[in-house]
Order: sequence, then C-alpha cells, then structure tokens
Amino acid sequence: MKNAIILAAGKGTRMHSDSPKVLHEVCGEPMVGMIIDTLKKAGAERLVTVVGYEHERVEAALGDKCEYALQEPQLGSGHAAMQAVQLKDDNGITLVVNGDVPCIKAETYRALYEALDDADMAVLTVKLSDPAAYGRIIRDEKGNIARIVEFRDCNEEEKAVNEINTGIYAFKNPDLFAGLKELKNDNNQQEYYITDLVEIFIGKGKTVKAVVAADPEEVQGVNDNVELARANKYLRMRINEEWMRKGVTMIDPERTYIGAKVTFGRDVVLHPNIYLYGETHIGNDTTITPGSYLVNAVIGDHCLINASEITDSEVKNSCQVGPYAHLRMHTLVEDKNRIGNFVEFKNTHFGVDSRCAHLTYLGDSEVGSKVNIGCGVITVNYDGANKYHTVIKDGAFIGSNANLIAPVTIGENAVVAAGSTATKDVPDGDMAISRVRQENKEGFGRYYLERNRAKKMSGKK
Ligand code: UD1
Ligand code: CA
Repeated sequence: MKNAIILAAGKGTRMHSDSPKVLHEVCGEPMVGMIIDTLKKAGAERLVTVVGYEHERVEAALGDKCEYALQEPQLGSGHAAMQAVQLKDDNGITLVVNGDVPCIKAETYRALYEALDDADMAVLTVKLSDPAAYGRIIRDEKGNIARIVEFRDCNEEEKAVNEINTGIYAFKNPDLFAGLKELKNDNNQQEYYITDLVEIFIGKGKTVKAVVAADPEEVQGVNDNVELARANKYLRMRINEEWMRKGVTMIDPERTYIGAKVTFGRDVVLHPNIYLYGETHIGNDTTITPGSYLVNAVIGDHCLINASEITDSEVKNSCQVGPYAHLRMHTLVEDKNRIGNFVEFKNTHFGVDSRCAHLTYLGDSEVGSKVNIGCGVITVNYDGANKYHTVIKDGAFIGSNANLIAPVTIGENAVVAAGSTATKDVPDGDMAISRVRQENKEGFGRYYLERNRAKKMSGKK
C-alpha cells in the first residue's frame, strides 16, 4: 500500500491569522487540499492528515478526501507523525509531507516513493542561495546524508550549509513507526522532530538517501504571507504556462488566475483579471473577459462569458453571458441563449434559444425554449419561510417589469403583459394582464410642472 501522512496540526503563528495556516489558499485551493490532490496523482492510496489547531475547520474544508488523526497538544513534527496510528501495522511505503509545502509536483512525490527501491528512508532536499531558517542537511565525509540539524540548533559551521530539508520524506512504513518510538525532545524547542529519524535510521544500520530537488521554487515552504504570495505566483505561472503550451490564449498570464483542476478545450481566449477555480471546464472557442469569476462552472463551446460570476452551474454551447450576470446554485443554461446585464439565475434551468437580456431575477425556475424574458422580470420565489417554483413553458413571452409570484406556471405561447403581477397560472396561449387602467388628465401635466418650478424659485429667495 502507498500511504501518505500530511502534517497539518500547527497554527502557523507567523501568518498572524485566525485561520489555520494549511487552509490559506494557493490558486484557489487550501494548501493542504492542493497537497492531497497531488499526492493522489502520485499514487497515494491511503492518506492521513494530522490535524490539531482548529481541526474542525480543516476537517470541514477537506471532507472525505482523506482520513484524520488528531494531535493534541502539538509537540513537534515527529510527534505529529506518531498520531497516524491507523497506519502503524501497514507493510507498505509512506510519504510524510509538511502541510505547508504546497507546490510539489506529482512526479517529485513519485520519485520519492521510488527512492525506497534502494533505501529505507529518503529525504527531499534542495540547495538554496539563501538557506534562511530551514533545517540544514549535514553530510558525512563520503557525501552521504548523516543528519538534519534545525536552524535553531545549528552551530556556525552548520548554518553555513546551503542544502536544506524541504520537509518531504519517504519511509518503509514499519521502519517509520519503529523509528518514531525512539524520538527524544532534547532540543532548543523541546519538540519531537521528525528530522531526527535520519540519525536514528543510520544508527540502526539502515540506508538513508537524500534526493536533491532541481527547482527551489517547487519545494518552497509557506510560513508567512510573503511566502504565500510567492508560492501563489510560482504555481500560477506553472499552471498558466502548461495551458498556454496546450493552446490556451492568455492576454496577460501574470494576471490570469486558474486553479489546478480547471480544464480547457481548444481556441480558448482568456482576458486578464479572471478567476477560474474548482472543477471548472471551458469549452472550445470560448472567450472569458475581465472581471469574470467562475467556480465549479462548466462552459460549452463558442460562448462569450463577459465580466460575470458563475458558480456551481453549467452553460452549454453558443451562449452569451453578461456583462455582469450572476449564475449560481445548479443553474443550467441550454444552447444558444443570451443572458444579459444584471441578470441573476439561481437554481434555474433555462431552455434552448431563449432570451433574458436585462435586469432580471429567476430563482428556482424551469424555463422552456424560445422564451423571451423582458427587462426587469422577477420571480417572487420566497415568502419569508419557503421557496417556490416557477414554470415558464416553450414560446412564452414575459413582458418587462413583470412579477411572477411562485408557485406559478406560465403556459406555452402565453403572454404576461408588461408591468403585470401574475399571482395565478396562465393557460397555454392566454395573456395575463393585471395592472390599473391608464387615465390621462387633460393639461394637468403642464399645470403640475409649472407649479413645482414656481415653488422652487420662491424657495431660493
Ligand atoms: C520543518 C522542518 C525543517 C524543514 C522545514 C521545511 C522539523 C523539525 N523541521 O521546519 O527541517 O527545513 O520544515 O519547510 O520538522 N506540525 C504539526 N504538528 C506539530 C508541529 C508541526 O502538525 O506539532 C506541522 C505543521 O502544521 C507544518 C509542518 O508540520 O505543516 C512543519 O511544521 P513547521 O513548524 O512549519 O516546521 P518548520 O519550522 O518549517
Ligand atoms: Ca514550515
């Protein structure tokens, strides 16, 4: 079995945040979620996240993506790994990864699993021009890794070493749990350091291998908001470059924000200042313009998404959305539609080749094909306690500024006259009109305006 233990119980004091560090986001995903997804790509079958500080929040964010172990109190990274007791009798191999190193690639995790073919433990290291406060890799006279010394415990000579520990390790699982039992906390911080396993393994005659990462940016840790921004920028450019190489056009890739799970068809054009996150897909020949924010949005081919917000919803082919439209909560817009400015759809199914061009709210609605929704139409779906459905059948025409008080059904080819409030069903082919009949008072307009202008003049004196 290939296992992974993700260490995520720490508070992250240097973030100066009420939120646990591992929930801070890179490219729209919490760091720890990003790590778990990548570990799965690398073949990890069983994943245990060690939680502690604000663990309910971490568990709520990750749901059933992984198993959990609780570490309370938090007595160091080695103590954290010990808590993953559900793995203690497993005979497989186990990666232990810090929850604050979010940019690692699946191939790097894979290489670490594979390093166990000829070693009992492997550590991912990297050489940095500024090794900062990372743990230092101390090698013996033969050049083999001998131990890891935490920065706080380093002497001057050790501080000068520029090869550091990235916080990613691979173990044969039975050796890991045997080794963890021998950790001591006789160090500067009185914590149980997982890094001491290097010396413990060597003391038992086991082989430890240091795998040197080629790219320092990939293995960077996040301890404060400066490092978080740096990790975001690196990951953003990595994702964007991958998609540009596969044919996506980005007007300004430095200002285009795409999550790791987003996918694209051919001939997609992305303008700057757009956010595409979650399980979003953009179809062929579709353009997204500035100010768009899409999370878990599936967009078809030949669409224009213009400065709009779309969440947990789908837009099929040849549609124009926006500017400033908001589609949310399981909305489904079928082919050949135009959804215009200041239109909100919530949990609405909008049929083929219909129109809804301006200033409208449709909630909990089922709309047929070739329907025209005028300007300023509102489905009145909430009575303060419950939500109700509106049905608008094929070919219906809803005049401007109509209110449809749900539950209500507007029949096929039926009309609701502009300015009407529909409180009951309209049969197929009928017209509903519910408004006060107009009366014109002769000359009263001129009289009224002149009176007001005179009042205004006298008020000024
Ligand atoms: C750790 C390493 C250091 C390495 C660096 C790389 C140790 C002792 N040191 O230092 O050699 O260079 O990572 O980024 O491991 N955690 C727990 N429970 C605890 C303590 C920590 O779950 O009791 C988790 C944290 O949430 C974090 C990870 O372990 O995700 C690392 O902890 P952190 O305190 O950030 O260690 P560093 O000082 O960065
Ligand atoms: Ca850290």
